[in-house]
Amino acid sequence: MTAKLIKGTDIREEILAEIRAEVEKIKKERGVVPGLVTILVGMNPASVSYVTAKIETAKSLGFHEVQDSQPPDLSEKDLLALIEKYNKDDTIHGILVQLPLPKGVNEKKVLNAIDPDKDVDGFHPVNVGRLMIGGSEVKFPPCTPAGIQEMIVRAGVETNGAEVVVVGRSNIVGKPIANMMLQKGKGANSTVTIVHTATKDLASHCRRADILIVAAGVPDLVKPQWIKPGACVIDVGVNRVGEKVSEKTGKKVAILKGDVDFDAAKEIAGYITPVPGGVGPMTITMLMKNTLSSLKHKLGIA
Ligand code: GUN
Repeated sequence: MTAKLIKGTDIREEILAEIRAEVEKIKKERGVVPGLVTILVGMNPASVSYVTAKIETAKSLGFHEVQDSQPPDLSEKDLLALIEKYNKDDTIHGILVQLPLPKGVNEKKVLNAIDPDKDVDGFHPVNVGRLMIGGSEVKFPPCTPAGIQEMIVRAGVETNGAEVVVVGRSNIVGKPIANMMLQKGKGANSTVTIVHTATKDLASHCRRADILIVAAGVPDLVKPQWIKPGACVIDVGVNRVGEKVSEKTGKKVAILKGDVDFDAAKEIAGYITPVPGGVGPMTITMLMKNTLSSLKHKLGIA
């Protein structure tokens, strides 16, 4: 293996320790802690496990946390009323509505009902606009792209003037990370290309990348010969390709694969993220950072 492994599991611990210290300081000086509510409608197993992980992390940091679980047949009107209740609640600084929502509920309407100043997911159009403007306008960068940028910076990878190629144009990862990497400033100032399903020659674009960010949702899409020697490869893909029995618990667990052929790519890249244990753990970490940041904005100390 020639590539340096960028481990989300290690970077997460560094950032959580920083957040914990700030929470303690604010609590001591101002008598308040960040408050996060997660709203879960129904019992989608993946959503239940994501929400549980979010709430447990919030608890471990000394946040005020509320897990609001609602039945799958909750009406859109009642969900909007619930959001309004938390919009008005002074002890809550971050509101997260876990996606996907049950069929029949208008996801766009629901996300737009969240107070943009409590939208710690960064999905509200106001926060998407703030991200586009950049600089001090940005309040809540979306969590997965924010985690990716943090990993690149903490690994010491040069972004200034770097060729960044983003594979995928989703609203949650591809579009925002491309936008963040092209802004002026630390961890950015790059030349950015977005490639997608209609791109004529994916390989030739990827080969130019000093930093290759792959969020396509296609297992092993990126072949080793697409990677520039020494490049930094960030694999956002989490593809379930089968099941196995866990040696630890004896239970069935999903076999996960990234969008990059890791075993071959690690011999060519300079830096690479593993799957699992790479970008994945960063998303919840940045949610915590955004919730703390929401409280700091409110206190005028951001
Ligand atoms: N479902 C899967 N990922 C996410 C996320 O980052 N935020 C929300 N709200 N729902 C999700």
